[in-house]
Amino acid sequence: MTGDTKRVQELIGRMSLSEKAAQMTQIPANLLTDEEAETWAVRGIGSFLHALGKRAEKLQKAARDSRLGIPVLFGIDAVRGHALKNGATVFPSPLAMACAWDREAMEAVGRATAAEVAADGLHWTFAPLLCMARDLRWGRVDETFGESPTLTGELAAAMIRGLQGEDLKDETAILACAKHFIAYAESTGGRDSADTPVSMRMIRETFLPPYKKAVDAGCATIMTAYLPIDGVPMTAHKELLTGVLKGELGFNGFVVTDWDNVGSLVARQQYSETLRDAALAAAIAGNDMFMSTPGAYEELIALVKEGRLSETVLDEAVKRILTVKFRLGLFDDKQKPKIVDMQAHQALNARIQQEAVVMLKNNGVLPLENKKLAVIGPSVDHIHAMLGDWTYMSHPSIRSSCEIEHQITPVTPRKGLERLAAGHGLTIRYEKGCGFLREEDPIAAPDVAGYPYLEKIIKPEFQNLDTGAVLSACEGADVLVACVGDFLGQTGEYRDRADLDLSGDQQALLELMKSTGKPLVVVLVSGKPLTVPWVRENADAAVQLFNGGQTAGLALARAVTGETNAFGKLPISFAHHAGQLPVYHNQLPGWHGRRYIDMPEEPLYAFGYGLSYTSYRYGAPRLEKENGGYALITEVQNAGEADGTEIVQLYAHRPAGQRMTPVKELIDFARVPLKAGESKEVRFPVDMESLKAVRDDGSRVLEKGTYTLMAGSSSRDEDLRKVTFTI
Ligand code: GLC
Repeated sequence: MTGDTKRVQELIGRMSLSEKAAQMTQIPANLLTDEEAETWAVRGIGSFLHALGKRAEKLQKAARDSRLGIPVLFGIDAVRGHALKNGATVFPSPLAMACAWDREAMEAVGRATAAEVAADGLHWTFAPLLCMARDLRWGRVDETFGESPTLTGELAAAMIRGLQGEDLKDETAILACAKHFIAYAESTGGRDSADTPVSMRMIRETFLPPYKKAVDAGCATIMTAYLPIDGVPMTAHKELLTGVLKGELGFNGFVVTDWDNVGSLVARQQYSETLRDAALAAAIAGNDMFMSTPGAYEELIALVKEGRLSETVLDEAVKRILTVKFRLGLFDDKQKPKIVDMQAHQALNARIQQEAVVMLKNNGVLPLENKKLAVIGPSVDHIHAMLGDWTYMSHPSIRSSCEIEHQITPVTPRKGLERLAAGHGLTIRYEKGCGFLREEDPIAAPDVAGYPYLEKIIKPEFQNLDTGAVLSACEGADVLVACVGDFLGQTGEYRDRADLDLSGDQQALLELMKSTGKPLVVVLVSGKPLTVPWVRENADAAVQLFNGGQTAGLALARAVTGETNAFGKLPISFAHHAGQLPVYHNQLPGWHGRRYIDMPEEPLYAFGYGLSYTSYRYGAPRLEKENGGYALITEVQNAGEADGTEIVQLYAHRPAGQRMTPVKELIDFARVPLKAGESKEVRFPVDMESLKAVRDDGSRVLEKGTYTLMAGSSSRDEDLRKVTFTI
């Protein structure tokens, strides 16, 4: 027995039933009065979320003065830096950061986030999100690392390593939380928490691998999704939570439910008759801590007293929670880091924001030099449209509980271009042109408690196209730059969206600008891929900027003026039309006709696709035997004039076993810096584990047959060179 285990067992032996039930309880402090919060602290609550600074300190002191003095865990959604706090480093959204395909940068982002969260006396972030965005209508695509199990797992594991550091006892180490277990983005029609008819085989083959990487990276906590898996609410899914996650994967941290999952079993999912039944189902399934269902505290106590729930179930949950608290050093009076290197964090932010810019098209109009620009559109100078979700602007209710030290002034595309203009002989004429919505648009804020601020966010966007102003702005310009996309009223939690076209008069704006006959650069600033086939056909250049960090506008300006060539690649496929979904790269073959009669076969933009100011040439890949498997070697040459970094991708097609297999799936990737003209051999050890098929009995085997490996610059067939081996 380790020291901690002994201390945990000894402590549990002294805890009362109600103290155990309190330890399993987590409540949002920003929704409690001081007295209510203090009462919970004295009762021995396990955790508060959304309390910071002085409030957290006060509550921790009250907890330490409670009968057993068990310290409280303070959690917060620091999903892209400590972004709910204005004054912290706001990194790009996870989807934007995924465009960098950069394990090392993700670990550094985790490290920086942890330092800033820990400096506020907090211990735990509800990140990274491991959901995979395969239906673009889902509201939270921006929070994902895209569509690939491999890319998601690699980047999430890197972030977890960064957040938790070498040792959880370190001052700057905080708990990570892999969420939302499991397949949360896979619900029917992209409808958040609707039914998800996926098989156990599909869960093991597609959705579980990122969690295995998270568990292997030592992730301390995992959050349960809201949604039902084939009719069984995840909160009540004992087979997946206890059998698979804790049993098969050996997860030894603790499981926390998502927001009021237990109450949802009654109120939304009509799965449980009463809150007591719901608390019983949730406890037995393997949820160790209940988020934001304060009523469940009394129900757990009653369940044990009336003999419906064994106290040993609470002991197991409390053991997991206390073990994590000991691992974190909370009982050893863990101190907050004294200083935080914000300069280094801002430099890291500048780097990852740069790598997050994706060039989709360029007929030579970029880079912009010595030109008169007309910069027009609702996204040109719009802060929350640029930042996106889970920041101090999108969650004012949580922000109100943050001590705001200082306001960092975000740099929008307009401000970024204006800052660099002189150095590149550019003049800028700015015009908003239109809002994201027409005056007559019906879009209303989802009627959801907790999101009343959305009305305020949506109201200013009802603005029709101002043709005169746009044409006058275009008049003296040599090149037109349109910035269009979406805003917080259209992307984020509770904002699933059926029509992914440019909303309001944005398309009319683009066509009006195009009608002038001048070169047109389109910058897409959005939370998720939009359906923009007109842009691909008619723009002279197109750049994608998923929700960025505070200075994303400067990163964009540096990219389009050629100051840098650090472009990223898409972690997610784009569709021509919402009706074409799903378009993700790793689908099974066999569709009769391979396309809708009114749609092309391919996605609008492919997974892994992205251009730059140079081009790369790939040699034929070859295999070498290595460690009982293979290594794939491919030569890559920078065939252009600009130094750059190529994101080399490795895909595989596996032979069918009991089940069919995807036409191709990403199995590895590498960032390869190459000077103009330089060639390098890139070596990928082939992870034979990742080629195993999942049998119906859950076993993983290398099926006999021919395996095809494909190396190249994107998932498109024309960008891949193949080699095969047979087992
Ligand atoms: C939200 C989200 C979850 C978040 C939690 C706490 O509803 O689903 O991702 O971590 O509540 O804010």
